[in-house]
Formats: sequence, structure tokens, C-alpha cells
Amino acid sequence: MKGGSYQTRSSWGDVEAMLGADAITALERPIAEASALPNACYPDPAWQALEYDRLFARTWFVAGFTQDIPNPGDAMPVQAAGMPLLILRDHSGVVRVFHNVCRHRGAVIVDKPCSDLKILTCPYHAWAYGLDGSLRTRPHFYGGNKHDVVRDDPSAPGLVPVRAEVWHHWIFVNLDGKAPPLADYLAPALERIGDYDLNASRYAGTVHFDIATNWKFAMENYIEPYHVFAAHPRLHAFVPMAEREPSKIDRHVMWNRYIFKQAEEGRGAGLPHFPDLSYEAAHKGLWFILPVPFGLEVYPDHVASFHVTPIAPDLCHERIDIYLIGEAADAPQYEGQRKAVLEMWRGLNKEDVGLIESLQKGRTSPAYDGGRLSPYWDEAPLHLSRMILEGMR
Ligand code: FES
Ligand SMILES: [Fe+2]
Repeated sequence: MKGGSYQTRSSWGDVEAMLGADAITALERPIAEASALPNACYPDPAWQALEYDRLFARTWFVAGFTQDIPNPGDAMPVQAAGMPLLILRDHSGVVRVFHNVCRHRGAVIVDKPCSDLKILTCPYHAWAYGLDGSLRTRPHFYGGNKHDVVRDDPSAPGLVPVRAEVWHHWIFVNLDGKAPPLADYLAPALERIGDYDLNASRYAGTVHFDIATNWKFAMENYIEPYHVFAAHPRLHAFVPMAEREPSKIDRHVMWNRYIFKQAEEGRGAGLPHFPDLSYEAAHKGLWFILPVPFGLEVYPDHVASFHVTPIAPDLCHERIDIYLIGEAADAPQYEGQRKAVLEMWRGLNKEDVGLIESLQKGRTSPAYDGGRLSPYWDEAPLHLSRMILEGMR
């Protein structure tokens, strides 16, 4: 879907002024002498506004999930890059995304998930829009009982569309409409995920977390395996540190993998696998993150997507959506194993919550300003900091 009404309002000079030249230089040095993003980038609303304006708005990011709008006439309001968007499925089944704001006085049009919609009606003065965003009627617009009925008038003020593309279960948006095609953006992940036929994956459930931390900490934590031995006993028993590698970088995508010896409940055992996996792919965990917050993790028997929505500089919402292979997604005989996958992810992520919340608290200390990093493990989190800055340039 086309769209791209968003105009960037800030400049690179605004970013430089907030960060200072020293912090930018520290980020660019080789890792042994480098520091990651400084404190201001975590608790400061002004920095968050710059991220939304210069980073989120100018690239692709996931704003919604097809399983949240499975049927024609379904709509779901979401918050994305600090603004209200509306994701819906029109009557022909096409996913569309709009700015969720009425063209009259700016009320939010849809404030909760809806189904069976024939028309979108603003709650304030009842302007009505089609599911294609076009303006249809304006009751009493010209005076009592003098209604405006709009017929196929492209100049009428319809809902403002957002450029959107669906890749499997994930609805990506590009607010300014100027990013390269989504397939180019995803290429570094697509080039490594070919073993798995994602068409076979079906939605099976979600776990949600509200976390008192900045969205970047959730992503930095997700991509560095350095903390596994200290934070995740079960995961460490599954694959110990000596068999782990630091995350790798390919363009703007960070990725990692490990080979496990023995599948276990929640990771590879008890559920159908992707079709036609090689021996290696049947014993592999593989994961990716995109800098604007989205991660994907693939096991032989499931895909987990990791999605972070910034709510405030010190608050984010995480959802982990699980997709299983074919009938494993809903057949009764797999109910126990399905739960085991969801519980594995819930338990694993719970072990991270307190840690990433402590990072946010640590950023109020003047004694910390970007840190000293492990030259072996921390290249990917440092790269994420660099990518964020690069994206804002
Ligand atoms: S604000 Fe929507 S109809 Fe008035
Ligand atoms: Fe972790």
C-alpha cells in the first residue's frame, strides 16, 4: 500500500547538539576504546522524539501482526513511533494501514480492536470513512439535516494512508514513504533463512511484557549472548558459553546462531518440524534483529518474533509471538507442547526483565556514560548503537 505523508522535522544538527562531538567519536572508535550511546539517549524524551522523527519514520518497522486482523472488517489500533495508527483488513482481504486520526478535528477514530466493520465512524461528529480510507459521509456538515454525502471524490479528506507491506505474519510500515523496498531492507535476513519454509508457520500464541526500560535495552540484550551464563541457567545448559559465538553483523542486520546437541521441550522436541530440514537446520537456533525494534528467532519447530514498542523513554511493551508448523498451531494433540513453547519464552524473557530495567536505572548515574565493552561479545550491541546513530544521520 502506498502512503508516506510523514515529513521529518528535525536535523542531524539536533542529534549532534544533544549527543556532543565526544560521544559521537567514542562510538566510532575500535571496540577496545569505544563507548556505546551515552546516558542521554535512554531517559530523555527529547532524544526519543528525535529517534521517532529521524530513525523510525524513515525506515521500515513492524507496526502490527496479521493474526490480530484475521478477517475482512477487522481493525486494530496501534501506537507506532509515538503516533496512533490503524491497521485493518478491508472487505477484499487486503491489509491497509492509516493514520488513526480523523480529518475533521483530529479525534482518534478507532480506540479498541474491532471486527465486522462496514465503515469507520469517528466517535466525535460521526464523519464516516470506507475501509479504503475514503471519506463517505459528513452528517449535518452544512447545517441541521444538511448532510454531505461524498461519491468517489479523491480530493475529499479521507484517512491518510501509511505505506505498508506484509511479510508473512508481520505488517511493516514506512512512515515517510521513501525507504527502499521492504525486500531490500530484509535481504540480510532473507539470505540466511532459506532453510525454513515460513509459509508453513502458523500463529499459535503470544506472551506480553510491560518493561520499565528503554526499547534499545531490550534489543541490545536480545542480540548479545554474553549474559546467558549469568542470567539464563536453562538456556546455558541447552548450549553453554564455550559453544556460543558473538553476534554477527551484516549491513543493518545483526544475527547469531548455535547448534544444539539434543532438542528439548520448547526448543525442537515434541512438535512437527519445518518440512525438509537438513540435519544441521534440525539442530540449530538462528536469530536476527533489525535495529528498529524487531527480532526473529527460528528453531526447527517454531518461529518466535520479538517485537518492542517504545511507550515512553523508560517504558516499552514487548510481545513475543509464536508460530508453529502446520497443524501444531491448533490441533488438540499438541496442546501440551504448544504451552511448553510459550512457557519457555515467558520464563526466558522474565529472566531478562529485571536486568534490562536495572540498565535504565543505571543510566541516571553520572558515573556511567557508555561503558567499556567486551571486544569479543559486545560488537553487536555497539553496532546497534552505531546503526541507530547512522539511521538518524
Ligand atoms: S473529529 Fe472526527 S468527526 Fe469531528
Ligand atoms: Fe537474555
